[in-house]
Amino acid sequence: MERVFSNSISDTSYALFLLSLLLVFSSFSSLANAKTHNHDFVVQETKVKKLCETHNSITVNGQFPGPTLEVNNGDTLVIHVTNKARYNVTIHWHGVRQMTTAWADGPEFITQCPIRPGGSYTYRFTISGQEGTLWWHAHSSWVRATVYGAIIIHPQEGYSYPFPKPHSESLITLGEWWDANPIDVIREATRTGAAPNVSDAYTINGQPGDLYKCSNQDTVKVPVNSGETSLIRVINAALNQQLFFTIANHKLTVVGADASYVKPFTTKVLMLGPGQTTDVLVKADQPTARYYIAARAYASAQGAPFDNTTTTAILEYKTATSKPIMPSLPAYNDTATATAFTTSFKSLRKPLVPTELIIIFSSRWDSESTSAHQKLVLETPIRGTKVYKLKYGSRVQIVLQGTNIFTAENHPIHLHGYDFYILAEGFGNFNPKTDTAKFNLEDPPLRNTVSLPVKGWAVIRFVADNPGTWIMHCHLDVHIGWGLAMVFVVEDGPGPLQKLEQPPPDLPVC
Ligand code: C2O
Repeated sequence: MERVFSNSISDTSYALFLLSLLLVFSSFSSLANAKTHNHDFVVQETKVKKLCETHNSITVNGQFPGPTLEVNNGDTLVIHVTNKARYNVTIHWHGVRQMTTAWADGPEFITQCPIRPGGSYTYRFTISGQEGTLWWHAHSSWVRATVYGAIIIHPQEGYSYPFPKPHSESLITLGEWWDANPIDVIREATRTGAAPNVSDAYTINGQPGDLYKCSNQDTVKVPVNSGETSLIRVINAALNQQLFFTIANHKLTVVGADASYVKPFTTKVLMLGPGQTTDVLVKADQPTARYYIAARAYASAQGAPFDNTTTTAILEYKTATSKPIMPSLPAYNDTATATAFTTSFKSLRKPLVPTELIIIFSSRWDSESTSAHQKLVLETPIRGTKVYKLKYGSRVQIVLQGTNIFTAENHPIHLHGYDFYILAEGFGNFNPKTDTAKFNLEDPPLRNTVSLPVKGWAVIRFVADNPGTWIMHCHLDVHIGWGLAMVFVVEDGPGPLQKLEQPPPDLPVC
């Protein structure tokens, strides 16, 4: 007893010392837990048979879709890309923040010159503070039509999802297939100045599904057990088309998007623009049977041709063999359903939304003036080589304005190197006097791609805390060539972790 009393003070400090040791140790051990994943990506021509025809498609490692990268938050990826195809290629890790590693971002002629046929380049980057689903794709001409794959980011070891652990997980990557060489399709369009041919099929994990010729033997099956809940990660990897997505008779509970968690909400239909991902929980609470998972176009441009086919997979209860039940999908031009969905997203936790904006930057694709301090007017795009400079730490607000100068349509606008908060969206022209009242500063969703409503606007904010050269563009690839793209250069900050790293020695040169 005596001893205990006499030592009580030093015991306390000893306990504190132990506690701090423990803390140091646990932060070390989480670092020690972080893994480095090495991958070889060989870009090569591969015979791929779809819709009764065989094409020499460009693939990674002969796989279509390409390999899924599965990591934990905090892990590092080292991906050695060798180009054995006959086209230039780069790989972009869509949505990965690339803090200080812009050299690994991938868009050709922005952060690197393309990897020439016969060349190679090693992408090195760390995933930090992102959980959920992202993806990777070629960022060079239309090579990404067949060169893409998923990135699954699990929580750090010892951490869990902010929702009950699902019994199973599956991946649905939506794609777009041309019964032709996609590079020839875009080359022909560029030569004639006409819009490129629309695709011939949509795909789920590379398979068109039961509603296309020569396809039903390969339709993707998603097995479920009665009463269990599955986490389904949906990626829109299509080249040029927003897609509605649904599962017959089942509710979809959205829990994440673009590798950020959201406040769960329930819906029958998802709408994803190219570039976007959505994680949903699906409970197998229906009679034992087979149910179609289906996706088709949300086509908002009036009168413009689009691929109006439907891709399917099958949600299959164990032992069920019945004919799959087909869901109904929204009409192709159902903007009301698309809007109801995109405006349902809220951050799971209250975020620190940047305020006291140093720069209010309004990028309008029309000629009307705004009250913004800076503006970019792109009425008729002109060929430009200017970039928009941002000081490190700038708080940036962008008003994205859709117009009907050409064809009005929904645009999935994607920013590299950043996630941004979507404060509000609406139809018509943004009115700075009245529309600021609609800003959600409480729980706006954090995303890397925003669906800019047809003839409407969206307001996004981010802090320029990642030095480098970052492209912002419409993720309908056909629009990049038409000029719907711009580049930010974010300057280095003063701190050691606020500077762009030196370019790696194997960075491809032009
Ligand atoms: Cu999916 Cu410029 O990117």
